[in-house]
Amino acid sequence: MKPPANMWKAVILIGGPEKGTRFRPLSFDVPKPLFPVAGLPMIQHHIEACSKIDQIKEILLIGFYPKSEEIEKFIQSARKQYNNIIIRYLPEHTALGTAGGLYHYRDQIEAGSPTAFFVFNADVCCNLALKDIVEFHQETCADGAITIVTTEAPHQESMSYGCVVENAETHEATHYVEKPETFVSSLINCGVYVFKPEVLNHLGNIFRKHQNERFIDMYDEDAAAEKISLEKEILVPYVSSGKMFVYKTTKPWSQIKSAASAIFANKLYLSNYHKTNSHRLARNAPNAGPLISGDVFIHETATVHSSAVLGPNVTIGEDVKIGPGVRVCNSIILPGAVIENHSCVLNAIIGWQSYVGEWSRVEGTAHQPNPNAPYAKMISGALFDDEGKLIPSITVLGRKVTVAPEIVVRNSIVLPNKNILKSSKNQIIL
Ligand code: GDD
Repeated sequence: MKPPANMWKAVILIGGPEKGTRFRPLSFDVPKPLFPVAGLPMIQHHIEACSKIDQIKEILLIGFYPKSEEIEKFIQSARKQYNNIIIRYLPEHTALGTAGGLYHYRDQIEAGSPTAFFVFNADVCCNLALKDIVEFHQETCADGAITIVTTEAPHQESMSYGCVVENAETHEATHYVEKPETFVSSLINCGVYVFKPEVLNHLGNIFRKHQNERFIDMYDEDAAAEKISLEKEILVPYVSSGKMFVYKTTKPWSQIKSAASAIFANKLYLSNYHKTNSHRLARNAPNAGPLISGDVFIHETATVHSSAVLGPNVTIGEDVKIGPGVRVCNSIILPGAVIENHSCVLNAIIGWQSYVGEWSRVEGTAHQPNPNAPYAKMISGALFDDEGKLIPSITVLGRKVTVAPEIVVRNSIVLPNKNILKSSKNQIIL
């Protein structure tokens, strides 16, 4: 059978268990790419966006999660929901770096002769106009091989990202530095690219170069010739050869590295539903509660008392129970949690099957993104300041935490299975 003309694919780099360290304790219980944000696993937002682009026929998730049952379960369910697209998980035997998996699975990517393929970092939150990026790649990058999606960030913060310099007229990338030590450019790499398949040939050359250069010790995973950095070993050489072009987005964008940034991503994706999926947003029913203020997602299996007040920026997960008089704002309540009568949850993530007793407060401090950030919103994931003091942040309860009645838990991180019997502030409860 003839392959369809102009067929595209997408690859999502989902990393592996040792990648989500800043996301603890939440990444103890679920692979970080499956953490639910605005009611959907983080990577489902990328899958959903891809499923709306006619050209994209297949999505490949590449990562090194050894126990992949949860990922497989997710894929089964995603296949049912987005049945116009093939979705597969391709596991790496070890962490192969951001581009090693692309090389390892080059045959799978090239199968069916795609014109081009998207590459997404799993842990970015964005509401990109993929259609525009497809057009940009076909027109502006016609003679190039890579389109890199970028956004503007404040000078100081830009250095935590890949920094790109472009020719403003042609949009050709003229310089790329990964996380530079001094300021290079306020244009940062969003972790979303389009590659032409020729990039896979380049990866073959890199692999052979590694084989020649490295002493390959079979017990030293860092020495594996297949371990390749997308940023340093693809982007840098392609800039030098004038084959990388810069697509700039002015849509909100952020990374999802820490629990605090998940709260911000939750807000961003909920607000996006106004345009894409307004049926997912809860509405006030005439003369019946609960009172919904701003953007709120409530899973259809959750039970919310009519006197509760929810929002803005709230996600209520599967089988959650919210009692009478409860107030929830700027928070994610994970599946199976119970929030008892008259409790208050602000700027917090409540873990799976956790229990908040009546008249309790679980409260954190909202991270205000830098108001000078033009489009990129940076949420620091740091837990401690330079003097080793805990930075006030959101409160996170891990799985199966019990908070006794009339307790205040403020700016604290609580590990799974803890029983909180007295109030706490600025603590990590181990
Ligand atoms: N499959 C696979 N294998 N994925 C990986 C591996 C690996 O060995 N290592 C990292 N990843 C995935 C992560 O899960 C994440 O989705 C993405 O690759 C990038 O992860 P990091 O290596 O942690 O990089 P970063 O997030 O600090 O910086 C990257 O993203 C920024 C945008 O968020 C760089 O590309 C920056 O230039 C960029 O600005």
